[in-house]
Amino acid sequence: MEGIKSSEITPEHVYLSRRRFLAGASTLAAGLLLDACTAAAPAPAGGSPAAGTSDTVQPPADVLTTYEAATGYNNFYEFSLDKENVGTVAQGFKTSPWTVQVDGLADKSRTYGIDDLAKAFPSVERIYRFRCVEGWSMVIPWLGFPLASLLKEAEPQAKAKYVRFETLFDPQQMPGQNSDMFAWPYVEGLRLDEAMHDLTILSTGLYGKPALPQNGAPLRLVVPWKYGFKSIKSVVKITLTEETPISFWMASAPDEYGFYANVNPDVPHPRWSQATERRIGESGRRRTLLFNGYAEQVAPLYAGLDLAKNF
Ligand code: MTE
Repeated sequence: MEGIKSSEITPEHVYLSRRRFLAGASTLAAGLLLDACTAAAPAPAGGSPAAGTSDTVQPPADVLTTYEAATGYNNFYEFSLDKENVGTVAQGFKTSPWTVQVDGLADKSRTYGIDDLAKAFPSVERIYRFRCVEGWSMVIPWLGFPLASLLKEAEPQAKAKYVRFETLFDPQQMPGQNSDMFAWPYVEGLRLDEAMHDLTILSTGLYGKPALPQNGAPLRLVVPWKYGFKSIKSVVKITLTEETPISFWMASAPDEYGFYANVNPDVPHPRWSQATERRIGESGRRRTLLFNGYAEQVAPLYAGLDLAKNF
């Protein structure tokens, strides 16, 4: 299963991807088949309207965000609250040696060195839309591997219902953690079935390169149908639990941030609408799509759940 369908990829996007394909074939997901897209002109997203059909009901095509924007406009409160300054403050962040502990309700708890992890779970490329709860969005070519591969190796026990993730706690390296404005470390959580979904990845890089510190090196979660804050950075611990994990944002502002955080244009944030978003690099705003455009793949996970109550 791929992130954005090949039919949604624009020619420029394909061109860039083609170049990356030529530069590093081994990093590409077999399922993504970006090179195949060059064989035919991509159809507009959501169908193939006859020539001349108004495109007002079609979402505009997704174009890759520039590398400069993806690495120069970041949220990573451990380093800075100023998005354009995170990269500078995070420069020199030590990402090796690094370990990731997988524990909790699992028969095979284990601590991986980051290099062993990379060897055990080779990274592939996934191009995903990425929508921040603040109302901006990007399209990012991630390198990573399905979280499910790692969780299967841990052998979750029957009682395990959730997965809890934790960022490194190191106030010496992460100056923001010296502030008592927040309860550190940053924590996130997913239901086990969300965590096992093929779209959910642990990312090691982006744009065919290893991740920079500001993007959550050496390992960050990416859950493309949820608001960006679920995609926790610089992960050191992954724990299978029976109880719902309390995330960093649930603890900070429980009236504003729930456990699910599924992208949903119909459920406003208490202080702003979520109906539209600003795609970084575009002028104007575009309509936000339910589940960030991944409804076909993930809506069944929420059958029968009131999305307004379970926000
Ligand atoms: N993870 C940690 N540890 N600390 C953070 O402050 N910010 C989150 C998420 N993961 C954050 C984090 C938010 S609010 C967003 S929108 C994304 O990271 C931003 O990811 P990006 O900077 O790679 O675009």
